[in-house]
Amino acid sequence: MSAEDNKKRAALEALKWLDDARVIGIGTGSTVNHFIDALESIKGRLDGVVSSSGASAQRLKAIGIPVLDLNAAGELSVYVDGADEANHRLQLIKGGGGALTREKVVAAVSKQFICIVDDSKLVDVLGRFPLPVEVIPMARSYVARELVKLGGRPDWRQGFVTDNGNVILDVHGLTILYPPVLEAEINQITGVVSVGIFARRSADVLLVGYGDRVEKITR
Ligand code: 5RP
Repeated sequence: MSAEDNKKRAALEALKWLDDARVIGIGTGSTVNHFIDALESIKGRLDGVVSSSGASAQRLKAIGIPVLDLNAAGELSVYVDGADEANHRLQLIKGGGGALTREKVVAAVSKQFICIVDDSKLVDVLGRFPLPVEVIPMARSYVARELVKLGGRPDWRQGFVTDNGNVILDVHGLTILYPPVLEAEINQITGVVSVGIFARRSADVLLVGYGDRVEKITR
């Protein structure tokens, strides 16, 4: 079984977690794309979806699902999104697709955050995946120097601009033993918009797709 099959298995399992929600939030990435594709079969039950990115919004619209403005939607009951890494405490690294800030916002307003991953994403310690940090463009060099002081090796994701008009620094070489602490430290650097550690608002349910099953991990 390929990682893609395992992502799809986790994505299909997430359909069972929507209950009777009429408006849901969704994230970004190849795992979420499987989830969006699966939503087509139940789209009649939904009033619409709040999307964390232009890319997911486009995919939703293509299958006839209305995309709603978060300010009008209010609190959401369920948010479904992928991750680049997840540990057993349901703390995550996200932002490989560069949508981390909007993903944080949608996760923050959702009662349940269902995270869907394939088994390669499950780790004991976060940090092998380079940590994405969204930064306003003029602060790029300053923030990079501050990240070096924290022990990281920041790498500017050249040619990439976020949906918010900012840049991404991917920070290599971190062993993140205390995710909520590092999340707060990086968030406090002037010029940082948000960091891809999701520990203060972690997932509530982690669905991990394997070759023959989906494992459910809850808090
Ligand atoms: C985008 C994200 C994605 O959830 C993360 O990159 C996982 O992507 P994929 O499902 O393609 O492996 O955080 O900003």
